[in-house]
Amino acid sequence: MLNSLQYLNFSEHMIEAIKFALRYDPSPNPRVGAVLVDKNNKIKKITAHKEKDKDHAEYNLFKNSDISENDTLYVTLEPCFHDDTSPSCANAVLETNVQNIVVGDIDRDERTNGKGIELLKNNDLNVSIENGINDFLNPGYKITNDKPYLIGKVATSADHIIYNENKRYITNKNSLEITHYLRATVDSVIIGKNTLKIDNPKLNVRLDYEYKNPQPVVMWGNDTRELKKYSSSFNNFIFYVENDEDSFSSFLERHSIKNGLVEGGNSILSYFLNEDMIDEFYYFKSSDSLESGLKIDKTIEQYISNNFNSIQEYPIIDNLLTTYTNK
Ligand SMILES: NC(=O)c1ccc[n+]([C@@H]2O[C@H](COP(=O)([O-])OP(=O)(O)OC[C@H]3O[C@@H](n4cnc5c(N)ncnc54)[C@H](OP(=O)(O)O)[C@@H]3O)[C@@H](O)[C@H]2O)c1
Repeated sequence: MLNSLQYLNFSEHMIEAIKFALRYDPSPNPRVGAVLVDKNNKIKKITAHKEKDKDHAEYNLFKNSDISENDTLYVTLEPCFHDDTSPSCANAVLETNVQNIVVGDIDRDERTNGKGIELLKNNDLNVSIENGINDFLNPGYKITNDKPYLIGKVATSADHIIYNENKRYITNKNSLEITHYLRATVDSVIIGKNTLKIDNPKLNVRLDYEYKNPQPVVMWGNDTRELKKYSSSFNNFIFYVENDEDSFSSFLERHSIKNGLVEGGNSILSYFLNEDMIDEFYYFKSSDSLESGLKIDKTIEQYISNNFNSIQEYPIIDNLLTTYTNK
């Protein structure tokens, strides 16, 4: 069956590497997955960087493995040039028979930043790059400013509706599955108070493996009259009350949250966009019209088209996903 991540043009083996890497939390290191494939395109071994201070994915992969020169190594991030918790992975690759390697993204860590790939190429290995894999797996990786890294997301019908009481999900099941993968990559999912009350959401990850759930965060405004009632019903959620905090960024920092998926609601999407806090955006559009319901605020669409670069359009059967990054 087609995994929904294939609609993002990720290759089959990189998807397996992503799915495996998502099972582990090696933070503060990035999640990295690696897959070894034989000449018939069959997976021989799959592994990941599992824990802080433990072996990198490539080392785990090479341990007790029978590697042939016809195999291909897929790794979600450029093999490190530098020694870290494992010695240099690029050097470790050279000590094996591997001749073919597909790399997810160039490592932004300046100790590696292209040097791992250069070393492999200088030793006549066939190296190709499949862009966007590490950026998907580790949102905001090595982007150092003092802000949390936030991904905006919205789903609309063909006639711009974001809520209709008779249709809980506006987009198709593959679009939904992509959203669940996005949830699996981030520390938090952020919604507004009205979305909590109207949708009664779980905000967890529902996929074929039990990944760690992100922390649900509710933007609660300042009216605390019903806060107790909702915070006890949604007791694993945390609630941001504007007047009680210095800023949303410091609130997230206090909860050790570095990144998040903002699942708006007009009100909170407008807030985060106007504050220039959204780094990338996933806009899912269905081809069905709903005819009635709450429409997306026109200023949100205008804001995105003026201030974001459209990266790519992905047809997802009868849906269209457009991804954007902040200019
Ligand atoms: N299709 C989709 O992708 C999608 C996704 C999510 C939600 N929705 C739909 O969107 C609708 C809700 O949208 P909405 O615009 O009415 O409401 P919302 O965005 O869910 O929540 C709005 C409330 O959040 C609070 N808030 C906003 N900015 C804040 C800030 N900076 N700090 C603290 N609190 C803040 C405010 O509370 P106060 O008013 O008390 O200040 C505001 O009224 C629902 O029908 C839901 O189903 C659709």
